[in-house]
Amino acid sequence: MTTTLQEDTQLEADKRSIVESEAAMPRTASRAAATTTSSRKTLHRIVLTGFMGAGKSTVGRLLAERLGWQFLDLDTLIEERTGLTIAQVIERDGEAAFRRLESQALATALGRKQVVLALGGGVAEILTNRLLLEQTPATLTVFLDAPFAVLVERCLQQENAAVRPFLADRARAEARYHRRLPHYARIARIRIDTTSLNADTTVAYLLDKIAQEKLVIQPVAGNLR
Ligand code: S3P
Repeated sequence: MTTTLQEDTQLEADKRSIVESEAAMPRTASRAAATTTSSRKTLHRIVLTGFMGAGKSTVGRLLAERLGWQFLDLDTLIEERTGLTIAQVIERDGEAAFRRLESQALATALGRKQVVLALGGGVAEILTNRLLLEQTPATLTVFLDAPFAVLVERCLQQENAAVRPFLADRARAEARYHRRLPHYARIARIRIDTTSLNADTTVAYLLDKIAQEKLVIQPVAGNLR
């Protein structure tokens, strides 16, 4: 991935702000309390990864609602920042430029707490992004998996879906899918085969897994339903 100096500097600053916000607490009772809760593996964010059509946004929205957390869609964040749709960004500036915006948006999004974050399908393919995800504390990454044919079918069923430029050429899309699978699997602690699940049953399955793994979710002001 090639980046300009200015973009690199922005990315580094974004990464630093994450590390600093985690380390900024004073050495007082509150820091001690944070240490105790972190040893019980408290989660501050849940990240959903997987290919286009995996259900990241639908499941993410529902999960956030269940937890009383904020839902964030990385593509939406990029669209807000650029004032363009993802398809327009890719058409105007090319894929490499889009990926740089995506990495910057990811660094910002990972600085938020009590958030469910839906990634774009290509995020896991970039090494910087994988490192960022792996190194951000209190972050659970979940891989929503399904066979390529199922994912394409789901995308085609979505009437009001955003235009997905990388789905148009089916053979290249399938190659992307196979190239990305090991990356999705490597960054995720939990993998869910969603082939025969809907959004509701996926969320139920995930909440069950989180409980089994003894991960602690902090509701916002007792919002947990
Ligand atoms: C992409 C997936 C899209 C979007 C962009 C590129 C990809 O997000 O980020 O069109 O490379 O797989 P969704 O996975 O949410 O469709």
